[in-house]
Amino acid sequence: MTKKSKFTIKDKEFELPLLDGSIGPSVIDVTKLYSDSSFFTYDPGFTSTASCKSSITYIDGDKGECYYRGYPMDIMAEKSNFLEVVYLLWQGQLPNKKQWDEFSNVIKNHTMVHEQMQTFFNGFRRASHPMAITVACVAALSAFYPDSTNVNDLDQRVISARRMIAKVPTLAAMAYKYSIGQPFIYPDNELNYTENFLKMCFAVPAEKYRVNKIFAKALDKIFILHADHEQNASTSTVRLAASSGVNPFASISTGFTSLWGPLHGGANEAALNMLKEIGDVKNINKYIDKAKDKNDPFRLMGFGHRVYKNYDPRAKVMQKTCHEVLEVLGRTDDKLLEVAKELEKIALNDKYFVEKKLYPNIDFYSGITLSAMGFPSSMFTVLFAIARTAGWLAHWKEMCLDPKNKIGRPRQLYIGEKPREFQPLNKR
Ligand code: ACO
Repeated sequence: MTKKSKFTIKDKEFELPLLDGSIGPSVIDVTKLYSDSSFFTYDPGFTSTASCKSSITYIDGDKGECYYRGYPMDIMAEKSNFLEVVYLLWQGQLPNKKQWDEFSNVIKNHTMVHEQMQTFFNGFRRASHPMAITVACVAALSAFYPDSTNVNDLDQRVISARRMIAKVPTLAAMAYKYSIGQPFIYPDNELNYTENFLKMCFAVPAEKYRVNKIFAKALDKIFILHADHEQNASTSTVRLAASSGVNPFASISTGFTSLWGPLHGGANEAALNMLKEIGDVKNINKYIDKAKDKNDPFRLMGFGHRVYKNYDPRAKVMQKTCHEVLEVLGRTDDKLLEVAKELEKIALNDKYFVEKKLYPNIDFYSGITLSAMGFPSSMFTVLFAIARTAGWLAHWKEMCLDPKNKIGRPRQLYIGEKPREFQPLNKR
C-alpha cells in the first residue's frame, strides 16, 4: 500500500505519496501537487528536493560516509582501481576476470583521438586555461564521432561512453601539453589507465619516461575519490542537459563547465592558492577571522559541504595520500602541508566552524598532493573532470534507461512586473 503524507494549504487538506528509498530519508512525491492544488514548491539550490531516483551513489552526510553501488568508497580507493570503479558505476556490479579483461582492453582500444583534433587544438591561444580547452574538446567530440551520437541507440550509447572514458584523459593531457608548448604524447597501451595519463602529461620525446608507481597509485586513488558524488551541481547539469535528448558528448561537456566553478571542482585550485596566500602558520588567525566575517566574501576554500555535516570521508583518504606522495619526495616538512594541518586544527576547534558543521572537504588536501606530483593548479579541475566523467556517464545511462524520464523543466516564483502596456520610444 502506498504510504501517504497529509498536509493542509489554506485550510484545504491534501494527500501526497511518500516514497521510501532503500536507505536514507524518504521523499514526498510532489509531482501531482500542482495539478491537485495549483501550488508549486520553492527550493532554490535544491536543499530539500530529490530531482530523480538513483541507484548509483549513496552519501550519509551526517556520518561522513559514501558508497558506490553499495561499496564504501574509501575501501574502493584502497583496494580497487579507477577503471574497475568506472565499470562498477556504469554496470552496477564489479567485473569478473573475463569482463575486466574485455572492458580494460576496449578502453585501451579507444585511447587515441582523431588526428584532426590536433588542428583543432591549434586554434587556441597557448596561454589558454587547460580547462577551457578540455571543455571545448569534449563538446567537439560530437563533431569527430558523429556515428555514436544517437542516444536512442543502445550500441551507440555504449560506444560513446567508452570513447569518453578512454579519450578524455588524452584530451586533458593534450590541453596541458599545448598550454606549456610541448609536443603531444600519444597514448601507450602497455600502461594502465592512470600510468598512461601521467606519461601523456609528463613524458617528452627527448627522454625515456619511467612511471613513478607511487604517484600513479596516488593519482588513481584521487580519480576513485572523485568518480561520483550523486546529484551535485555538475551531475545535475548533465542530467538536465541530457533530458532534452542531446548527444552524449554535448551532455557530458556541460558537466565540465559546471564543475569548473570555484564552489565545486574549482575549489582544489582555490584551496591551494589560499594556502599559498596564507603562507605561514602565523597568518592563520587573520584568515580564520576573515572567513567568519559576514562582511568579507572570503571563505576557507576546501571547507564545508552541502551534504557532509561531518568529516568528508574523501578528505581522510586524501590526507593519507598527500602524506604518501610528500614522503616519496622527501618533503614531509612541506610548508603548505604545515599550514594546511594547522589551519584544519584551528578551524575544527573554532566555535563558528563547529556550530556550522564545517569540516575539511576533499579539496583541502588534493591541491597540495597534485602540486607535489608536478601538476600546475590550472590542471586540478581537469583531473577532477577526468574522474567525474565516470559518474556523469553512469547518471546519463541511468536517465536514458528510466521509462519515466521527462525533459527537465523547473518552475519559478515570478517576482517581476505584472503585465503592462508597451509605450513607443517617443512616449517614454
Ligand atoms: N568558510 C567560511 N564560512 C563558510 C564556509 C567556508 N568554507 N562554507 C560555508 N560557510 C558558512 C556560510 O557563510 C553560511 O553561514 P551563514 O549560515 O551564517 O550564512 C553557512 O556556513 C552555510 O553555508 P552555505 O554556503 O549556505 O552552505 P552550502 O551548502 O550552500 O555551500 C559549499 C556548500 C559551497 C561547499 C560551501 O561550504 C563553500 O563555499 N565552501 C568553500 C568552497 C569549497 O570548498 N567547495 C568544494 C565543495 S566539495 C566539491 O565540490 C568537490
